[in-house]
Amino acid sequence: MRVITFNTLSSTNDYLKEHISAFDEAICIHALHQTNGRGRRGRTWKAKNGENLLVSIYHPSISTNARALWISILSVIKTLSDYDVSADIKLPNDILVDNRKIAGILIEHLRGKQKIIAGVGFNVNEVFEDVFLNASSLKFLTGENHDINDIRDELLGHFETLIQYSDAELLEIFKTQLFKKKIRAFLGDKGVVVRDIDENFNCKINEEWMSCDNLEFVPPLSEE
Ligand code: BTN
Repeated sequence: MRVITFNTLSSTNDYLKEHISAFDEAICIHALHQTNGRGRRGRTWKAKNGENLLVSIYHPSISTNARALWISILSVIKTLSDYDVSADIKLPNDILVDNRKIAGILIEHLRGKQKIIAGVGFNVNEVFEDVFLNASSLKFLTGENHDINDIRDELLGHFETLIQYSDAELLEIFKTQLFKKKIRAFLGDKGVVVRDIDENFNCKINEEWMSCDNLEFVPPLSEE
């Protein structure tokens, strides 16, 4: 996949959205630093200059949000597993290690253009002093600094492999990874267990299916 690297962008997702018409083929926009990194639900995504992986990927063969999310999450998890780090999925978009967030995914859909952008923020070399942030990084876990470009290329390698799978195959791989642990959530103030998930990110609670947007997910417990 072609990669364009910038020292500083406001947000790699914003850059790719603004310039999407310039790219017919798969492209990865990589920034060493973002001045307006964005997370889900209007949150900001902070990363120390040059320390973490900040990329946005457009691939013409990704035509649904679910597919973008499955491939992005699994690519991060496979990259971590290359470093013997075992990660969990916290629905819908987070990757956790030992209940601390190590990566987040921001999928954006360009209306009218049928194009989907997957933004990946992956903590590599930043070690977070603020314990209340509950954030992790590859350095925090391995005790070593890592070359951001190597991590990026490993992630993109997994991305290119996963993209060859059908939706049904990806959903199965995603579910196998997800249900390694019990998935709990709050439905209002009631604690529930997620029994299944479908290709639209609907979750099965008891015998009822509902959008995962109605649930507040709890980090998976390590002993389960
Ligand atoms: C989240 O956990 O809320 C999603 C975070 C996504 C952050 C990445 S960093 C690269 C890309 N550019 C952005 O502005 N956001 C995504």
